[in-house]
Amino acid sequence: MISDDDIRRTREATDLVELVSETVVLRSRGREFWGRCPFHQEKTPSFKVDPRSQLYHCFGCHAGGDAYGFVMRTQNMEFVDAVHYLADRANITLSHITGDKAQGKRARLLELMKASVEYYTMLLLRTNEPGVAEARSYLSERSMGSDLAKRWQLGYAPGGTKLFDHLRAQGFSAQECLDANMIIKGQQGRLQDRFYERVLFPVADLQGRVIAFGGRVIGQREPKYLNTSETSLFQKRETLYAMDRAKASLSNTGTAIVVEGYTDTIAMHEAGYTNTVATLGTALTMQHLRLLNRFAHKVIYLFDGDEAGTRAAVRAAELITPDITPESGRFRIFLEVAQLPPGLDPADLLAKEGAVAMQAVLDQATPLIKFAMQQHLATADLSHPEGRNAALRSALQVLLPIRGSILAQSYIADELAPQLGADYSHALALFNSLPAPKQYTARADTSRVQKTEIEQVGMSGFEHTDAAGGAAGNKTAQIDYQNELFILFIEFPETRPLLRKAFERILWQGTELPALVNTLLAADEKAESTELYAKVLQTVPTYASTLSRGLQQNFMGTPIDYARLIMYMLREQQMQNEITLEKIAYAKADPGAAKDAHFENIAQKQSELVKIRERLAQVPKTIW
Ligand code: UTP
Ligand code: MN
Repeated sequence: MISDDDIRRTREATDLVELVSETVVLRSRGREFWGRCPFHQEKTPSFKVDPRSQLYHCFGCHAGGDAYGFVMRTQNMEFVDAVHYLADRANITLSHITGDKAQGKRARLLELMKASVEYYTMLLLRTNEPGVAEARSYLSERSMGSDLAKRWQLGYAPGGTKLFDHLRAQGFSAQECLDANMIIKGQQGRLQDRFYERVLFPVADLQGRVIAFGGRVIGQREPKYLNTSETSLFQKRETLYAMDRAKASLSNTGTAIVVEGYTDTIAMHEAGYTNTVATLGTALTMQHLRLLNRFAHKVIYLFDGDEAGTRAAVRAAELITPDITPESGRFRIFLEVAQLPPGLDPADLLAKEGAVAMQAVLDQATPLIKFAMQQHLATADLSHPEGRNAALRSALQVLLPIRGSILAQSYIADELAPQLGADYSHALALFNSLPAPKQYTARADTSRVQKTEIEQVGMSGFEHTDAAGGAAGNKTAQIDYQNELFILFIEFPETRPLLRKAFERILWQGTELPALVNTLLAADEKAESTELYAKVLQTVPTYASTLSRGLQQNFMGTPIDYARLIMYMLREQQMQNEITLEKIAYAKADPGAAKDAHFENIAQKQSELVKIRERLAQVPKTIW
């Protein structure tokens, strides 16, 4: 029998959104995730997962339940098997299990790591073994005294076969020691401890169980840090140092600070930044981001103020992939970058200048894309047109991997074009003419990179204008703004007064949209969302697939701010189309009054466009 405690622990260790995502394509919409129901055939998503309640529900077939129920239904399992399945998935050892082989092995390795950390901390804190005195004085020189060492479970590894002997005495086999990478085959195949004469920093999983170590030399040996190699317990691309300690603070603050070093992480925590984690000798990966995103919606990636830090910061641009765009719906995460003053890492800065200086650095954090573009502009000569043009070309490279995203578009409009004194439409045209970027690097976790949804579904809202005028800009307007406004209207009653007015002004195209708008306008201002959805689908059944996709973007501000942003973007779009049409008419018109009138119209619409852009610039940019 499985204990209630095990059932609870397993449920808590399971993220339903992640679990469901393994078999169902989910897209975020507001706070929920939606997809096509796995329990009945359907073309449009009526199946939602609520990350807060950790429950799923299908509005089509009315199936609903928790993670266990989901596994029981999708895998056709009994409850007990579902618990086993999820426990295994979450690396949880059920207390009664002894038989299952893989489970047993994993548990053994965790035991072995536990025995190792206990041994190493014991050596550091309570013995006078050779080397220990140096380790202790080294640590206290770096303000890591015994109290801190105890709290962070720091240890000392003397080397030789000390650990090996200890583990064998505890009943672990040589193979188990090798599998955990605590013992390695040395010269002539002799087995020896992996770590020697190093201070050890244990790395734990989310539940706080030690799965690896980082070891720092005390003298001047290479490498300075040695980490556990990949084992069945430890994958560095998915693991973050101190994640177990930081996760509560991540949830509370909504922000994660990512640094590069063990000592930096500890110094940050000790200074009160308990929402700090570190990568383990790798750059930040998409897996890391996915993990962080379970707890936080903002990540500040903090780089050392040295050459290596700068290089790492430049490489962070590799994280700019379709995965991080709002349209992908993969993350609800906002990535910022900050770099420390020259010559300092986080631990140095805290030691020398304290938390106030650190806060100043964190306050200066820049959105990743902006940061990457600034690096391109930093070396450019902006004093003459050729230089500015070259700078524009260079900075646009940053946005190539996310061409087609609204992010790329707004960075060109709000940052690049104004900064370089370039015309928005010229910058956009140049951008669209640039050759496609090379394939995303392996680091970007390409296996999970999908075409952005928008590429798959096309641009229903704008096809007509394309056909009518082939107007400029349409091809890059990858968000169906109109659809976005409908959903805001339906889902967020507070936006309705604002949108009502806007809806009356917008020139809706085709036959479906006006009918849909009329339905919305005719409905009671306080109508429930579900009621409105039902009404709309009754009026325009063919619109179901578009509507049920939900909001295309994550927004972080109020729904009203977001609605205003989209409204202005839509108006900008429409104004550009009108200008293009006028220009075509102007070119075709014979000289005379008609031509002059078109010229007047163009000028007037252009000043209108400027006004729209000014207003657009005033709306808080809270999308991501
Ligand atoms: P640093 O060299 O900046 O480490 O590397 P640090 O923490 O500032 O080191 P000291 O102790 O203050 O001198 C940052 C991180 O990069 C990884 C480690 O995770 C380290 O904490 N690293 C560094 C390695 O894995 N191997 C190395 O040889 C060096
Ligand atoms: Mn450092």
